[in-house]
Amino acid sequence: MADIGKEVQRAAAYLTQGELVAIPTETVYGLAANAYDEVAVVKIFEAKNRPAFDPLIVHTHAVSEVKTIAREVPDVAYLLAERFWPGPLTLILPKAEHVPLLVTSGHDSVGVRIPRHPLTLDLLRQLPFPVAAPSANPFGYVSPTTAQHVQDQLGSRIPYILDGGACAVGIESTILALNGDEVEVLRLGGLALEELEDVVQISKARIKTSSSNPAAPGMLSSHYSPRKKVLLGSIEENLKLVDTERVGTISLQKNFPQVPISRQIQLSASGDLGEAARALFSALRSLDEQPIDLILAEPMPEQGLGRAINDRLQRASFQG
Ligand code: TXA
Ligand code: MG
Repeated sequence: MADIGKEVQRAAAYLTQGELVAIPTETVYGLAANAYDEVAVVKIFEAKNRPAFDPLIVHTHAVSEVKTIAREVPDVAYLLAERFWPGPLTLILPKAEHVPLLVTSGHDSVGVRIPRHPLTLDLLRQLPFPVAAPSANPFGYVSPTTAQHVQDQLGSRIPYILDGGACAVGIESTILALNGDEVEVLRLGGLALEELEDVVQISKARIKTSSSNPAAPGMLSSHYSPRKKVLLGSIEENLKLVDTERVGTISLQKNFPQVPISRQIQLSASGDLGEAARALFSALRSLDEQPIDLILAEPMPEQGLGRAINDRLQRASFQG
């Protein structure tokens, strides 16, 4: 068996030298660099083909460190941090001066998160700097939820992947903007609104996840997209309109006898939306590899992680 401590040390050495390392988190794999080393951060944008207008999230291991990344931390941030960190939540806060504008794409704010993965927490504790890390996929494609996903697409561009197994949540973090004590949802994600609402009030008007929202750069209508076309809606109805030999399906639980069994993916046999979130990105990737033309996907119930899954399916299906 691999020596876990050595793997973390190796990742730390690369990051300290200004190199990129793919790191496991509970949401998706990230592509990390020293957040305070602009030469290293440029490599992230290059490896992903990521446009410079799309800001990066800064990852750290302790709430006490957040004060070194953000110049102000409102009370509501502490409340949220205490309850949900480490975990699938990113907070947008006023940035500290020494955080490079390259990381924040010129914004005066910075996204901060404490991820919940033991290897990455170990790694972050060893480093004297936080890491900037977007999802470790080519820009616009489906996020990686295993080390193999990262290897498949970015393996030749990055020196090291820290393998932490399959991601426990499987969908990117929920992003909240905090303006004083006002809370706005910029991206639906791995922390369900129902859980957030135990701590903060979120009105429907405060959910601003559309691409037209300048406060959420990088939230493009077309994103998280496999190469195959995705059609979102009733699979039963859409199957009447297409060549059933050339389609794959993604549903929560349903079977479609018209479609070859190997091209049908049920995200959760028991209808569990957490299990479905975990399975979603692997499902999109595996159907992308099948000899089909079209992925038929069905919306999940609009509750819990179903909302974030539907958001990703909508973006995957967007025809610009
Ligand atoms: O779960 C996650 O959040 C994963 C793991 C690796 O932590 N990371 C991730 O990063 O999904 P990325 O780069 O794929 O998405 C980051 C998004 C940006 O596209 C943008 O919408 C938002 O975070 N963001 C980051 N900094 C921001 C800022 N200062 N203001 C507004 N939005 C920001
Ligand atoms: Mg991403």
